[in-house]
Amino acid sequence: MCGIVGYIGKRPAVPIIVNGIAKLDYRGYDSAGFAISENNRFVSFKTKGKLENLRKRIHGLSFSGTRGIAHTRWATHGKPSEKNAHPHFSHKKDIVVVHNGIIENHTALRKYLESKGHHFSSETDTETIPHLIGMFYQGNLENAVVAALKDLQGTYGLAIMAEKENKIVVARKGSPIIIGIIRTGEYIVASDVTAIGEYTKKIVYLSDGDIAVLTPKGYQIFNLEKKEVNRKIENITWSLDAIEKKGFAHFMLKEIYEQPETLANALRGKWDARRMMPKFGGLNIPEYDINNLQRVIILACGTSWHAGLVAEYYLEKFAGFQVEVEYASEFLCKMDDLGSRDLVIPISQSGETIDTLMALRKANKFGVYSLGIVNSVGSTIAREVTGGSYIHVGLEIGVASTKAFTGQIMALYLLAIYLGRVRGILKGAQADILFKKARALPGLVTEIFKNERTIISIARKFKRAANFIYLGRGLNYPTALEGALKLKEISYIHAEAFPAAEMKHGPIALVDRKMPVVFTVQKDDGYEKILSNIEEIRARKGIIIAVVEKGDSLVRKKADYIIEVPGTSMFLSPMLNIVPLQLLAYHIARLRGCEIDKPRNLAKSVTVE
Ligand code: AGP
Repeated sequence: MCGIVGYIGKRPAVPIIVNGIAKLDYRGYDSAGFAISENNRFVSFKTKGKLENLRKRIHGLSFSGTRGIAHTRWATHGKPSEKNAHPHFSHKKDIVVVHNGIIENHTALRKYLESKGHHFSSETDTETIPHLIGMFYQGNLENAVVAALKDLQGTYGLAIMAEKENKIVVARKGSPIIIGIIRTGEYIVASDVTAIGEYTKKIVYLSDGDIAVLTPKGYQIFNLEKKEVNRKIENITWSLDAIEKKGFAHFMLKEIYEQPETLANALRGKWDARRMMPKFGGLNIPEYDINNLQRVIILACGTSWHAGLVAEYYLEKFAGFQVEVEYASEFLCKMDDLGSRDLVIPISQSGETIDTLMALRKANKFGVYSLGIVNSVGSTIAREVTGGSYIHVGLEIGVASTKAFTGQIMALYLLAIYLGRVRGILKGAQADILFKKARALPGLVTEIFKNERTIISIARKFKRAANFIYLGRGLNYPTALEGALKLKEISYIHAEAFPAAEMKHGPIALVDRKMPVVFTVQKDDGYEKILSNIEEIRARKGIIIAVVEKGDSLVRKKADYIIEVPGTSMFLSPMLNIVPLQLLAYHIARLRGCEIDKPRNLAKSVTVE
């Protein structure tokens, strides 16, 4: 989604800010632009499409300005176009703004500003911001920003410059902004830590309501009441290796192949042999309160929501909770009344998904405990929960989430075992078995990679399919949902997933000799039933592709194509069964020539509601 980078210091700003937004391009965008101050005059360039277009536009030009802001835009209000790309200017062109988020009262503001004679050059909600700041501007940018922010409704991460003042002002509400300290007097600001890592490891996360002024003399953070606030300087710990493909054709493939390592990391040092339970450092819930809890409400979107559906089984079975898995956006529409017996678990790779953040904020108003299962360290969700656990799978660049999905499931598996032990539902020996079985998982995932050739040959056969159906039962229904999501995200093939038995209540009408149907078959209580479901598809001449446990001769006889995975417990099976489905989606998309790491219309972190 949209990305912001700004720089103020001694060096020419353009290479730094353009390089910075290039680091954010994995988030998805449709236009890009920047503005710098060149001898106290603004110079700005904007282009539609890839950053390459912007680079070509400025090729051969030289810029010496040491202060600038840049942006990649993912269209919300107004189509992707040069005029809608950021930065946007005030009426007198003396204030310039880049913005992430949505200004909800932009229609009323625009009407008001136009009545005062302001002329707008774009269809965006953002353009109201520089116009409003310009209206309040009397030579001090931060004063004008504070005045303008009081009139804005909605969400924003902002970087702002005034032509005649050597400073950058940034502000945040609901959309992240961080300050990177290169050295005193040299700062980089961004909406995502990825843009900053090359220049500094020292960062300051702004909180909602913060406004910061950066000048070549230093920086200061204050709030809307103009009271100074202190935010601590933190160190980035991840290495820049994460943003290299390391010989893989795409980040997605690299991230699929990282799963044995990320799963092993999730388990390392996690077992408390004395108490026979997983260790959790940051849950921040006293054990007596854990015993009092009755209901868990999981809040998430997309892939993270699928991980939540798997966790529902863990939390019910291991820890005896009543569990509700909510789409975060739908939770916002409900009239829930949460109480002291409820525990909220937001799941988010990015930690910035606005639907999940808003749902968490709604839940937090009830004073409940909230445990975040988050990947991105220091992200907004991670900072607004009462406790939680990072999944530590490292930076995920591919827009289609892979290693974060298995990492989330593993973190939730361990969490459910921990809660089950504290609540006296699991015995020490049972927890020990569950943990030992998980330890085998990284090795089992590695075995699946040996089947990649089989998966590629299936991908070749179906690369031109128009539709796919994915079916699974129980814990592997979420696996089917996730497999279908992966395929549609990166190959643009229409794919739907259903609980295997539900298929005969409608979707079976779609099945004919051209319909590939992907089954994930687990040898659990539902095995016999899923065999019948396979027969039902066969009878309609559908093409059966089955992910099965090694040596499953019954399904082999019925299916057209087989992908074998090693046997594991029913509980761990989603983390294994999803791997061939990730690879199948990847290879189909590759063979179709799709842009795998940055699929059309998608963004890595969805920061608009
Ligand atoms: C996954 O492949 C998707 N790109 C998407 O569904 C994603 O999982 C969803 O937007 C939630 O993101 P989050 O985990 O960062 O909150």
